[in-house]
Amino acid sequence: MITCGIVGVTGYAGMELLKLISAHPRLQVTCVMSDSSAGLRLSDLYPWMETGALTLEPFKPEKLNQLDVLFLATPSGVSARYIEQLDAFEGVVVDLSGDLRLTGEVYATWYGKAPVHADTQAKAVYGLTEWNRESVRTARWISNPGCYATAVSLGLLPFLTDGLIEPDEVIVSACSGITGAGKALSTKTHHARSNENVQLYKIHTHQHIPEIEQTIHQMTGVEATVSLSTHLLPINRGIMATMHVVPTIDQTETEWIDLLSRAYRQEPFIRVQQGEPEIRTAVGSNYCDLWVYKDDRTGRLTIVSVIDNMQKGAAGQAIQNVNVRFGFNEALGLSTQPQYI
Ligand SMILES: NC(=O)c1ccc[n+]([C@@H]2O[C@H](COP(=O)([O-])OP(=O)(O)OC[C@H]3O[C@@H](n4cnc5c(N)ncnc54)[C@H](OP(=O)(O)O)[C@@H]3O)[C@@H](O)[C@H]2O)c1
Repeated sequence: MITCGIVGVTGYAGMELLKLISAHPRLQVTCVMSDSSAGLRLSDLYPWMETGALTLEPFKPEKLNQLDVLFLATPSGVSARYIEQLDAFEGVVVDLSGDLRLTGEVYATWYGKAPVHADTQAKAVYGLTEWNRESVRTARWISNPGCYATAVSLGLLPFLTDGLIEPDEVIVSACSGITGAGKALSTKTHHARSNENVQLYKIHTHQHIPEIEQTIHQMTGVEATVSLSTHLLPINRGIMATMHVVPTIDQTETEWIDLLSRAYRQEPFIRVQQGEPEIRTAVGSNYCDLWVYKDDRTGRLTIVSVIDNMQKGAAGQAIQNVNVRFGFNEALGLSTQPQYI
C-alpha cells in the first residue's frame, strides 16, 4: 500500500481526496492534517463516510516520514507555507493549489502573493496527465492543474498542436459550480445571493488565464492569448467551458470530430461526444467530455469541455497523477460513473 497524508482534509478538495482514496485498492490515508480542527476525529468530521479511526493532527514535518505521498489541499499562499517546510520529506508532494504552477513573476502578478522559491517551482511537474504523463512518472513535486485550466487546456491543445486554430483568437466562456470557490463563505457564495443567480467574476483577471497560456506554450510551443470569462453557477459541482476559435484550415465538422477523437483515442478519461453538451455527463466522475462544432455561417469552431471541478479538476486528477507516478493502472480507483441524475 502507498501511504498518503492530506493537509486541508476539512476542505472540499481534501474531502474528495479522502473519498477517492478510501475506494482505491493501492492507496491508504494514514495521516490527516488540519490547521483549524486538530484533535477532531475524522469519523466525527465526515460521519457519512467510512473513514477509519484517524484523528486530525497539526502539521509537523517530522510526522511525514512514514508517508509516500503528501497531498496539499490548501489555498494558494497556504500551500507555499507548507512547501517551505518539506525539504527533508522524501516522498511525492501533490499540491492542488496554484503555488507551484506559475513562475515567480507571473505568480506574483496574478495571485498577488509571494511565490515559492524558484528552485522548488522549477522542479514541479505540471500534472495535466494526458499531456505530461512522462514527466509525472518520475516527479517528486506534482503541481495539480486548476479546474478551469484543466477543462480549457484539454479542449484546446489538440487544435493548437498542429497550428489548426489561430492562437490569438481564442475566446472562452466558462462556468463553475459553487464548490469551485471552496467551503469558506463569502458574500458571493451565500445561498441567498448565489442561488437562482449567475455571477460573472474576476473579469479578465482570473488566475487560470496565465496557467492556460503557459500550458499551451509548454505542451505545443505556441504562444497563445486567451480571453477567459468565468461565471459562478448555482449548482454544486461541474465546469463547462465553451471555446470559440478560428480554424486555419477548412474541413467538415465530421473531420474536426475525428481529429479530436484521434487525439484522445487512448485516453481513459477523455470522451469525445456528440449532441448537445450538458454538465451532468461528467459530474461525479473523472471524465472530461469534449464536443466540437463547426459554425458554417461564421467559419468558427465551438469547442466545449465539461468536467467535475472536484474530480478531474482537482482530487480525481491528483489520484490519476499518483497512479501514473507509482506505475498503477491510470484509472485505478477512478472508475465511478457520472451521477447524472
Ligand atoms: N474546490 C475545487 O473545485 C478546486 C479545484 C481545483 C483546485 N482546487 C484547489 O484546491 C485547494 C483547496 O481547495 P478547496 O476548494 O478544498 O478549499 P476549501 O474548501 O476552502 O478548503 C481549504 C482547506 O485548507 C485549509 N486551510 C489552511 N489554512 C487556510 C487558510 N488560511 N484559509 C483557508 N483554508 C485554510 C483548511 O483546512 P484546515 O483548517 O483543516 O487546515 C481548509 O479546509 C485550493 O488551492 C484550490 O484552489 C480546488
